[in-house]
Amino acid sequence: MAQQKATNITWHDGAVTAQERRKNLGQKGVTVWMTGLSASGKSTIAVALEQVLLQRGKHAYRLDGDNIRHGLNKNLGFSAEDRAENIRRIGEVAKLFADAGLIAITSFISPYAADREAARKLHADAGLPYIEVYVDCPIAEAEKRDPKGLYKKARAGQLKGFTGIDDPYEAPTNPELHLRTDQLSIEQSVEKLLELLEQKGLLKA
Ligand code: ADX
Repeated sequence: MAQQKATNITWHDGAVTAQERRKNLGQKGVTVWMTGLSASGKSTIAVALEQVLLQRGKHAYRLDGDNIRHGLNKNLGFSAEDRAENIRRIGEVAKLFADAGLIAITSFISPYAADREAARKLHADAGLPYIEVYVDCPIAEAEKRDPKGLYKKARAGQLKGFTGIDDPYEAPTNPELHLRTDQLSIEQSVEKLLELLEQKGLLKA
């Protein structure tokens, strides 16, 4: 994990309370953390969830693995160390979004349990809600979908260290929500997510 390098820095508190932000936005900030294999459906579900939430007048924003790797995390690859840094940064960014009162929806493979636990802890320490969603799809099904042709490449030995083929994926043992995307439609998965957000009282101030 990253070390604190800077010295002589002091935390500066704001004058706005969490309650004031909630009242303004009509919701509570939360991070919805999707984890799962490539092609399991994380990004698709995140896109659909974000859309439904906005249609309902809520404020949500997606942080997507492939997208963030074009910008903020463009200097990171797929070694265990780089994946850990990828998730550390996204944990921090999602926490800021949740603190701002938004529904942050992240879709990253996030293959290592320890990295996901660190993201969870960041939120817990800040008193911010955090929902881990295991977007679960058997590898055979993910390989059949293969929308980017990456499983094919990995099987052919043209892509080394691909998650699920020759790189690990540590499945969550206790997620807040477990979605079997080979058994549920996208709409059903989104419905389950909305129910959970509703149940936890996050869609009201
Ligand atoms: S993570 O492991 O660090 O969480 P992230 O979600 O950001 O990964 O990026 C995964 C996406 O990068 C995949 O959906 C795929 O499109 C692409 N990708 C390229 N190389 C790899 C690889 N070696 N393993 C997994 N995904 C890869």
